[in-house]
Order: sequence, then C-alpha cells, then structure tokens
Amino acid sequence: MRGSSCCCDNGSRRPNNPANPNITHVGGRNFFNCPRMSAFAAPTRPLARKLAVAAVISPTPPTSLRTTTRGLCATMSLSSKLKPAARVSGQKQDVWSIINEAAAASPKQPIVNMGQGFFGYNPPRFILDAAKEALERVDCNQYSPTKGRPRLKKAIADSYSPHWGRAIDPETEVTITTGANEGMLSAFMAFLEDGDEVIIFEPFFDQYVGSKRVEMNGDMPGGKIVYVPLHPPATGATTTSSAADWTVDFDELERAITPKTKMIVINTPHNPVGKVFSKDELQKIADLCVKNEIIILSDEVYDKLYYVPFTRIATLSPEVERLTLTVGSAGKNFYATGWRVGWLIGPEHLIKYVAAAHTRICYSSVSPLQEACAVGFEQADAHGFWDATITEMKGKMDRFNAVWEELGLPYSEPEGGYFVLVNMAQVRLPADYPFPAHVASRPRDFKLAWFLIQEVGVAAIPPTEFYTDENTHLAEDYIRFAVCKEDSVLEEAKNRLRGLKKYMAK
Ligand SMILES: Cc1ncc(COP(=O)(O)O)c(C=O)c1O
Repeated sequence: MRGSSCCCDNGSRRPNNPANPNITHVGGRNFFNCPRMSAFAAPTRPLARKLAVAAVISPTPPTSLRTTTRGLCATMSLSSKLKPAARVSGQKQDVWSIINEAAAASPKQPIVNMGQGFFGYNPPRFILDAAKEALERVDCNQYSPTKGRPRLKKAIADSYSPHWGRAIDPETEVTITTGANEGMLSAFMAFLEDGDEVIIFEPFFDQYVGSKRVEMNGDMPGGKIVYVPLHPPATGATTTSSAADWTVDFDELERAITPKTKMIVINTPHNPVGKVFSKDELQKIADLCVKNEIIILSDEVYDKLYYVPFTRIATLSPEVERLTLTVGSAGKNFYATGWRVGWLIGPEHLIKYVAAAHTRICYSSVSPLQEACAVGFEQADAHGFWDATITEMKGKMDRFNAVWEELGLPYSEPEGGYFVLVNMAQVRLPADYPFPAHVASRPRDFKLAWFLIQEVGVAAIPPTEFYTDENTHLAEDYIRFAVCKEDSVLEEAKNRLRGLKKYMAK
C-alpha cells in the first residue's frame, strides 16, 4: 500500500485529528472513508471500530481481519455473562459519534472540524522542549507519586497562591490527575454515595453527565443529579448578546437544594456558553453553599482564557474556600489536550479523599508530561505566555465571529473559553431533507449540525447534548463552534459558512 492514498499507509498518511481518528483536519484524509476500512465504517459499532483500529496497528492483512469480523458476527449471540454493566450500557448514541459519522459520510471532504475542543496547533516551544527533555530522564519514565510529581504540585501552588492570597501547600492542597475529567470523576467518587444529590447547571460539559448516567443506572459513584438551567438571553434568536446574559435564577437554585444536596458543580469560564460567572453570581452561589454546607466543585479548566474580569469562587472567603475543590487542566492551559494532565486545588480535608479516589482509578498520572507542565507553569510568565494566550484566543474568536456579522446570524459573545454558540433559528432546513433516523429523532440542533456537515463541510456540535431532555428546547437553535484552530482553518470555515446565506430566511 505504500505510495497509495490509503489512510492505513504510514508512508502516505497525513495528520489526522489527534483526538479522534474519524475526522481529519483540512488536508487530511478521512479514516472511515478509507477503502481498506470501509468494512468497518460505521463508527457507531464499537466492535467494528475496535477492529478497524486493530487493522491499523496489526500486521495481520485486512482480509483476514474481515474474515475474523465475519466469524465473530456469525457467533455474535452473547451470553448474559458478557452483558455490559448497567453503568455503561443503555446510553443514547453520543454526540461525538453522530458528528463523526456525519463527517465521514459528508460529500464535502475534507471537513473543517470546529466541533471538538482540541487545539489545531502545538504547545509553545519551551513546553515541548521540556517534554522532550523529560523523556530522557529515567525517573520521568517511571511511576509518579499518586498525588503527582512534587515539581508540578509546587509549580501549581506557586502559580495559584497569588490568586488565593496565601501560600497554597503543594503537599496537602494540590493533587494531580489524569486530565480534569479524571479529576472530577475522582471528586465524585470521593464524596458521593447513594442518596446524595449534586446540583449541575444546564448546559453542562457532557462528561459530568457520564457520571449522571452512572448514577441513573443505580451504581457507583452514587448521587442523584439535580439540574438547574442557565436561562438563555430572551432575544438570542434575533440579537447578538453577551454570554453574561445566560443567567441563573437564584430562587430556582435555592429550591433545588435539599438536605441531601452534597455538591454543586460550577463551570467558569463555561463550556459551551462562554459565560464567566460574575463575582456577584459566585457570591450568591457560595452563600447558599456555606449556608447548606455544600461542596463546590469548580471546573475552571479555561481559567487562562477570560476576556472579562474572572473570579475564582475559592478565593471569595475562607468559609467558601473550605468547601471548594478547584479543577484545572494542563491540556487547556498549554494547548495539549492529549497530554491528560489535570489537577485539583482545595483544602486538605477534601483533597486527600480526591487523591485516594484517583489512586484507586489510575494510581498516578503520566510522568514526563507532568514534568513538562511544571516547566510550563515555572516559565509561563517569563515567556509572556498567559497574556499571549488571551490575546491570541480572543483574536481567533473575533476573526471567526465576523462571519456571523456578515451573515446576520446572532451569537452569544463569549466572555471566556474558546467556544461560541451561534443561534441558527434563521437557517431553514429543507422540509424533505434526508436526515438519517438517529438524527431525525433528535432536537433541531442535531439536524442543523448534520446539515452543516453535509452541505457546508463544517463540523460543529449540537449543544442540546449538554441538556436533559426536558430542557433541550432552550438550545435547539444553537450550534457550538470551537475556535482553537489555526487562523487558516478559521478562514476556510468562514468561506464555507458564507454558503449558509442561501438557506436563510429573507
Ligand atoms: C468544562 C470542561 N471541563 C473539563 C474538561 C476536561 O478537561 P481535560 O481534557 O483536562 O480532561 C473539558 C474538556 O473539554 C471541559 O470543556
């Protein structure tokens, strides 16, 4: 196959989406469009996907793999012993596989992928060099301490202490996790038991809901989720507004609290809304938590990307800090989502249990990249990196959003992060458009996303995935775009999106 255009051929393979092999960047090739992979082309079939991946890494010729597939299929009736656990079964097809499938099937190849929030460019050189150096060190290639490498914990403590207004103890008040995701799972596992309630604002980062589904299926880590919506701006369908206009009804929030409420999850800057909770809003949430002794899990993974003043809830008062676990992500801070380095900062009486859960889940996190992240924190100021990251991302946001001004489509101007929600109520979907059944049965934003991929060649995310079924009506006209891409990709996306004009109401 060398020299052919097949995506399986290392000799000719072009860079794929680093986070998801099903979608290529501009200039890449679509994995599931590859003729050698077509036998396994439906990304919704986990077994097929596994075998497709195996075909890339295995020396076994694909024909015998296909034979193997048929053989397995022929004997596919599973005994009850092979039934999956309730915590992972019975979920709706997730948004990522729907979008990936649409991208694979689109006639507009290659797709411009503005869906998933991975960066289209590398971490800065000083951090990459630190990673390379770490790989040469014997100790960096072995297990790290379960709570993280001392150098990274110290670098984080030093970096965040000025915000906290006191010296954070790196040994007892910081713990390193395998990305923010695993950090949050560790926090849920550390504190939630059956019968406990957790308040989550809608829309929510979908991985929290993974935990909800775990809960709904009646198994660990316990806890019932109580949803409180962020209310979208009333004029969102007609006028561009600030992400600040997505508001909390504090009476509604207070009514959601019961004696069983053990934890509240907040996310600021917010994915997907781009809202940075104001100090006043955080104070109101914090007051309720102090009054009711509720743990605050504050997901602040976009804490270096804010375009308005940003307050960290833990810093409001010692009473609030006592209840707060702050979650961070090196993936987001250093443009390295694949490194899977995250952390929690909090008081010792909370952190030690998060660390215990983390030890149980994955023992420790990837060593050389922890070391590189330590260097990132140590040297970021000297390189002017934190300031540059804001200027660059805000520049990308403005560059991309200019297309909505041209088209006259209203959007929610983000106050932080790298996602923008665009209201597409004015985009008319043809009544007879052939949506596949699994898209036709979902809210309008899924159809919009499918349509964008098929007709315009731009992948974006339908945000009702971040809502419970009852509240999907709040967001079904919106689409989420991630702007953390090269400027050339943003420009290509804009060119394509201009094609929406012909589908818009006059
Ligand atoms: C709000 C939010 N929290 C947590 C995460 C997960 O971060 P990490 O990649 O460090 O696990 C993400 C990733 O997209 C996110 O958007």
